[in-house]
Amino acid sequence: MELWIASSNPGKLQEMRTLLADLPITIKAQNDIPHYSSPDETGDTFIANARIKAKPIHVLRPDAWVLADDSGLECEGLNHLPGVHSARYAGPKATDKENVAKLLKMLQIRTTNRKACFKCVLVAYSPSGEEFVFDGQLNGTIAIKQSGMGGFGYDPVFIPEGQTKTLAELTSAEKNKISHRGLALRLFKDKLKQNL
Ligand code: IMP
Repeated sequence: MELWIASSNPGKLQEMRTLLADLPITIKAQNDIPHYSSPDETGDTFIANARIKAKPIHVLRPDAWVLADDSGLECEGLNHLPGVHSARYAGPKATDKENVAKLLKMLQIRTTNRKACFKCVLVAYSPSGEEFVFDGQLNGTIAIKQSGMGGFGYDPVFIPEGQTKTLAELTSAEKNKISHRGLALRLFKDKLKQNL
């Protein structure tokens, strides 16, 4: 059995491969499909965008399981932005560094409330076409400056609740244990195990 992951984000793929590595399944990513180009994420919710990513792969690989993650950072003091726009907060082709710089600037200008959360929604399609949805959330605060070299995206400025370090200062195993993606993936894994 194959599991196709509908993502080209190296940080996400690394975390998903690690967490699913012990399953008796062959993991493939959308980049393994020649000339595949990702659909535009035009949805205004995480679930809508996860479906937009998963559906075309389900059509191309109907005999496999397909899994898509849509995730992002919501800041209380910024009306829950960047949210679904997290990957493109500083512009359509923004780098992680540019997005983090914009986030720190917006928080500095707009608010003293640095509470935030990461959200992850996973949409999975089984070979019979059944849809499964799982989610996970990690609460925390946004640091004043960046620290740490691990992870990706906003990890260098996100301090999980109850911790003093940013996600980028944790090991990947420590991050996976508490993260929004780790939580959602463990739910998906349980479902997959029952269906293999
Ligand atoms: P998308 O799901 O492809 O739209 O992108 C999600 C974006 O949210 C990523 O590019 C990151 O900027 C951010 N993000 C999601 N999950 C994480 C995480 O675990 N750490 C840091 N940033 C994340």
